[in-house]
Amino acid sequence: MKFFADTAEIDAIAELNDIGLIDGVTTNPSLILKSGRDILEVTKEICSIVSGPVSAEVTSLDFENMMREAAVLAKVAKNICIKLPLTLDGLKACKALTSEGHKTNVTLCFSANQALLAAKAGATYISPFVGRLDDINNDGAQLIEDIRTIYDNYAHLHTQILAASLRTPNHVSAVAKIGADVATIPPNVIKTLVNHPLTDGGLAQFTADWKKTGQKI
Ligand code: G3P
Repeated sequence: MKFFADTAEIDAIAELNDIGLIDGVTTNPSLILKSGRDILEVTKEICSIVSGPVSAEVTSLDFENMMREAAVLAKVAKNICIKLPLTLDGLKACKALTSEGHKTNVTLCFSANQALLAAKAGATYISPFVGRLDDINNDGAQLIEDIRTIYDNYAHLHTQILAASLRTPNHVSAVAKIGADVATIPPNVIKTLVNHPLTDGGLAQFTADWKKTGQKI
């Protein structure tokens, strides 16, 4: 499963990229607002750090302006992936942009039928929001499983499942078990994945015992 960083924070992206933990980045209008940066400037900087796909989201709601904005975003860098909302206009733009050779990421997906439509529109990625379904007492992981089942029924569907709105390490392992192609994860959650108290305790014991040997490598 590929890991994308779900953020527009440059320092966090650079840190994780240096470790070699991320294969791409996803942003959205809320993450751009949180960054306090100009969308084109921060997206260009992200694309200069990460060689993998960087999702930048259109903000218009109508097809014509989605296509206009997509043309602007696509010029930022070669690894731009155009993010589009799961609406009829978004699906129309997805079909058009995909046919022009652009990578596309259809977002705000909350049902298997929506995901089927995105695949029919040729989306490179579909972004089902796991956390937001859990927030309203639905089962976000079940949506990932349903989409996996449907996509795997049809060899001609090539859309990759990009599990989004992941808030906890359990979300990450749950979507990995199901077979999501990508997980887009907030940097703080990515860094939490490495933590285990037995690892910490075991390393402390190894370090203490090694010190007792008086040896050096
Ligand atoms: O990529 C979508 C993600 O940023 C949404 O996450 O936590 O706002 O549901 P969240």
